[in-house]
Amino acid sequence: MVGVVVTGRGGVGKTTLTANLGAYFARERYKTLLIDGDVYLPKLAFHFGLDRPRYHLHALLKDDSLRPEMAIYEIPENRLFVLPGSSRFYDILMTPAERLKDVVSNAMRHFALTIIDSPTGIPFDTLPLFSLVQYQIVVVEVERSPIHSFETLVKNEILKLKALGDLYGLRVGVVLNKVRESEEEIEGVLRFLDENVRVEVLGVVPMDEKVPEAINYGKPVLEHDPSSPAAKAFRKVGENLERWVFGRNPGTEFINRVIKEGWS
Ligand SMILES: Nc1ncnc2c1ncn2[C@@H]1O[C@H](COP(=O)(O)OP(=O)(O)OP(=O)(O)O)[C@@H](O)[C@H]1O
Ligand SMILES: [Mg+2]
Repeated sequence: MVGVVVTGRGGVGKTTLTANLGAYFARERYKTLLIDGDVYLPKLAFHFGLDRPRYHLHALLKDDSLRPEMAIYEIPENRLFVLPGSSRFYDILMTPAERLKDVVSNAMRHFALTIIDSPTGIPFDTLPLFSLVQYQIVVVEVERSPIHSFETLVKNEILKLKALGDLYGLRVGVVLNKVRESEEEIEGVLRFLDENVRVEVLGVVPMDEKVPEAINYGKPVLEHDPSSPAAKAFRKVGENLERWVFGRNPGTEFINRVIKEGWS
């Protein structure tokens, strides 16, 4: 069971990244499960046009006679599956969280890859899930702070969240999202992360109006507008993560085939 947890402060794009990585890996033919681990403010379902699903993570937590597959929805024409949360206040209020790890572990069993979206900041409620995964992505919005105070942002966000991953022995990578800065400035940021923070960067995703537009259509931007700048960048993040998780370069199969069978 391979798993990734996506973390970061409020509104940086955790849920958007989770949805788009799901779209990437499903397209690459990995049977992929996305779990809405934002137990109190679940929003992952909106990225797939799943409106008020009847069964959800909260139902599984409450009723141990429910089979996980009842709350797992297949996104049509894909190998992508989503375990959403409930947006009903009563469900959220009355949810016993102590079974979270067992329920998620059970759901993960049938998938090649599971990506878990987290609540904002230090995800205290979903911390037990860190022991079920091997990778953590920290999403950061660089422009939240003036570029000259980037070091503070790094200390506050990346180091604290990375420390959590380190505690659980996870391989930690960073994604810079909603980037508007010039290329030179981002190069400086990347150098700082590499040399001073010693954390790997999986990708840089630009601010792109196609992202909120895609959510309105109930699709990840990678499906909604594959040639948009954000979709291209999310695809690169996917390729880098694929290399980490499955240890092969994207396109290797294609290259091997060309070497074996020649170009036709
Ligand atoms: N690259 C991008 N370009 C433009 N808008 C983006 C981008 N990434 C995310 N957004 C927008 O930012 C908002 C927050 O994104 P998202 O919900 O994914 O963040 P989050 O970290 O999951 O937030 P929360 O902490 O509330 O769960 C959404 O309106 C989304 O459309
Ligand atoms: Mg979110």
